[in-house]
Amino acid sequence: MAGIEPIGIVRLEALHYYVHDLARSRRFYADKLDFAETARSSAQLTRDGRQRSAVFEAGQVRVVCSEPVGEGGRAWRWLRKHPDGVGSLVFEVEDAERAFALLEARGGTPITDLQRFCDPGGELRTFQITTPFGDTTFRFVERRGYRGLYPGVELLPAAAGGRNRHGFAAFDHLTSNFQTMKPALLWMEQVLGFEEFWEVEFHTQQAAGEARRAAMQAHGSGLRSRVMRDPRSGVKFANNEPWRPAFKASQINVFNEELRGDGVQHAALLVPDILASVEGLRAQGVEFMPTPPSYYEMLPARLQQIGVGGIEEELGRLQELQILVDGAAPGSYLLQIFLRESSGLYREPEAGPFFYEIIQRKGDQGFGAGNFRALFESIEREQLKGRGP
Ligand SMILES: [Fe+2]
Repeated sequence: MAGIEPIGIVRLEALHYYVHDLARSRRFYADKLDFAETARSSAQLTRDGRQRSAVFEAGQVRVVCSEPVGEGGRAWRWLRKHPDGVGSLVFEVEDAERAFALLEARGGTPITDLQRFCDPGGELRTFQITTPFGDTTFRFVERRGYRGLYPGVELLPAAAGGRNRHGFAAFDHLTSNFQTMKPALLWMEQVLGFEEFWEVEFHTQQAAGEARRAAMQAHGSGLRSRVMRDPRSGVKFANNEPWRPAFKASQINVFNEELRGDGVQHAALLVPDILASVEGLRAQGVEFMPTPPSYYEMLPARLQQIGVGGIEEELGRLQELQILVDGAAPGSYLLQIFLRESSGLYREPEAGPFFYEIIQRKGDQGFGAGNFRALFESIEREQLKGRGP
């Protein structure tokens, strides 16, 4: 199936996130992450769609959050089945009519016909399809001079959403979890026209005695990943499924149980200076997944072993901010960190298991797979320390 015609994706434009509490999302995006709130649903759209929406933007990152108003709307229907989560991905396309025709011819499942909306500037064309990402739908949007963001959405005065204190520039990749990944991979290849980009299979059993195996089961590190990429736009989707023998304890399986289905696990946001970003975010009280001290004890040797060698950043600084490093070639690496998942940030299971990653690339085009192993081994080392000699 390689080389089928791309559907003309320009970029991943937005995540549409369904939430119980829009005011809480506003505090998170606007106050902590310094996103600009650029638009809100009009009174009529709120009434007709039975949901209240707000649009938050930083650089080219856009997140639309919707909370139910009464019953029966899309956010209400999502939240009846799932905790807060990504209910829709929005893609800008070159030509919505062509994208619709290609998708339908290849077995895509449109929810709507191509819809056209006009404003004084021009036209917006859009349609939505179902996907194998659980209940998450994909929306495709083409703007021909259309001035607004979306139909029924009113721009706020602070609409220049590009600049933000923490340097968020764009979506780097999106990662989704499946109980069975293969149908989604085939769909991305045969319907969307994506191609396989990179792969990793990791669990520590190969390297392992019984103690390690038991620890691995306790920490749920078994997973299998495939990355699919749109050849035209470079939009990248990482995809995971749980892997035996720790299938049930796998973080992927745990995620799926918490989301109550397949779906988007995390979105990685690209920044030019991750040290400055994380320092600023920590000052705002944003919480990140903790990294054990032994990760940094092992880091210089690991960087040699994986062929990266030296890095520009000071080790002490990385440890202080708990930033992770991975790579595969001399001087070519990435720096990354993960925010706590929403349910952890808010101490509330119904806030859902989705989380953000922040990533800075210095030549490496991977996704930090080496950090799965390094983190796992650090946790093991910490446990051994705890046990004493
Ligand atoms: Fe990632």
